[in-house]
Amino acid sequence: MNHKIPLRAAAVAMTLAACTSTSRAPEPAYPEKDRAAEAQRLLSGPGWYRHAIFYEVYVRSLQDSGGDGIGDLPGLTSRLDDLKALGVDALWLMPIMPSPFADSGYDVSDYLGVNPDYGTLADLDALLAAAHARGMRVMLDLVLNHTSDRHPWFLESRQDRTNPRADWYVWSDTPSSPTIPCGPIPGFGNGAWTFDATRGQYYFHRFGAAQPDLNYWNPDVGAAMLDVARFWLDRGVDGFRCDVVGLLHESPAGCDMIPETQAYIRRLRTELDGYPDRAMVAEPAGFGSTAPFFGGGSDMFQMAFDFDFLFPWPGWIAAGSARPLADHFAALQQALPPGAQSAIQLSNHDFARNFERTGGVSFRWRRAAVIQATMPGTPFLYYGEELDLRPGTQVVVDDRDRARTPMPWSDGPGLGFTTGTPWIAFGADAARTTVATERADPGSAHAFLKGLLALRRGREAFGAGSLRILEVDDPSILLFLRESADESYVVAVGMDETATRSGVAAAARLPGDAQTLLGTASLVREGDAARVTVPPSGFGIFRVR
Ligand code: NOJ
Repeated sequence: MNHKIPLRAAAVAMTLAACTSTSRAPEPAYPEKDRAAEAQRLLSGPGWYRHAIFYEVYVRSLQDSGGDGIGDLPGLTSRLDDLKALGVDALWLMPIMPSPFADSGYDVSDYLGVNPDYGTLADLDALLAAAHARGMRVMLDLVLNHTSDRHPWFLESRQDRTNPRADWYVWSDTPSSPTIPCGPIPGFGNGAWTFDATRGQYYFHRFGAAQPDLNYWNPDVGAAMLDVARFWLDRGVDGFRCDVVGLLHESPAGCDMIPETQAYIRRLRTELDGYPDRAMVAEPAGFGSTAPFFGGGSDMFQMAFDFDFLFPWPGWIAAGSARPLADHFAALQQALPPGAQSAIQLSNHDFARNFERTGGVSFRWRRAAVIQATMPGTPFLYYGEELDLRPGTQVVVDDRDRARTPMPWSDGPGLGFTTGTPWIAFGADAARTTVATERADPGSAHAFLKGLLALRRGREAFGAGSLRILEVDDPSILLFLRESADESYVVAVGMDETATRSGVAAAARLPGDAQTLLGTASLVREGDAARVTVPPSGFGIFRVR
């Protein structure tokens, strides 16, 4: 079966729609703006992150410059133009600091350096300069909750019970504590306490034993981490992705986002606001509302990852009904304070590749990408998603490595990633899904995503506009309206994968007739109502004002 969905570039969409459709009435052509100028305006100033396309990079796997098989910062710098051409505005780098790599860098042994495998501080400066010269931004991963067990702070703390950093970590005579009712995070072992023979006590860790939790009840710990944040902000990074940030404090009252942790996040935000146009995104430690990460809307995080979409979307997309998706995004709008921005991911370094999660059915990922690009929130892509990259088979650190294999860029040994031997084997079919191959194929995943991102670019309604779910009498069709002050768009996504479906949104009250921008669905205004027709696994993005 051919799963390729025809893609029409936004600029020529109206013309093509008019030429190729014999049954449709002529569509309106709304006055077009200079989208490049609009994009520049929207991506400037403190609200830039609402309109940016973020791209998560595992530096180890993006591009090797030195031939040692390990991706590095100079390699990443050399690929900025490729990423920009895809439509990427901002990078989130998974941890780049020195680390023994018990958890792919989420076990930091020096917060003020660069992992020698990845390069030097000067290489980071060069990356920042090159990114900024292209109008791109760079966010670092900030691991606040725990350090490596090789971090000098921990090495000192474990010496005895009286050293200056004795209570920088959480120690107990027993593998428990009456004040800490918190167990290990699922997937990170059976216990949250490990005995340290030197100190003769147990230390607390929500993650692996090589990742002892810092004790945020000690104000010196919080102050030291604010120093770390300032160090990187002074260097010019554009913000942080804050790892499991809700877990900083534990108390009998709870383990996640307790008031003291919220207060600390406010301090971090105050520091961040001392620098222009910086932003932070929160990683929740689990499911549930992200509202606590936003505080009043301007005093905590600018963005938080929406795990309640990230986890279930492959099931929702395949289930035939649009209801769960409509309900999820409508409820999110209600729950978040004004100013809050969701960060929408389809996958990340902790998940299986989309290819695996969708059973290899590319058109499921494509419809999800349409939702990611057009629902309220900021899209965060994970490197390789643009190729619908296949999972790897080799594991070096842990099973998640299957979604962390190197980018196949072009033909030849090392597939353009390295001139040496890659640190981990490429995933299946890598040679067939290189960036070069996919760029040359107008039906490829890469071409699809590039067209979608180009459509979102410079359209304020998608990054910051209002959302209205349009109820359709056919439950398989997701239909919604996004509006900014002077433009309105309708998006239709079909959940039926085998039949064309048509339905009526009786109370759509669209401001104008539909101009097709992308996709094969059709939308016809009938007074207050609108008729939408969607081919199997189809979608449509329409301008209606
Ligand atoms: C969340 C990160 O996404 C994950 O990869 C890591 O293992 C844990 N935090 C611990 O830092």
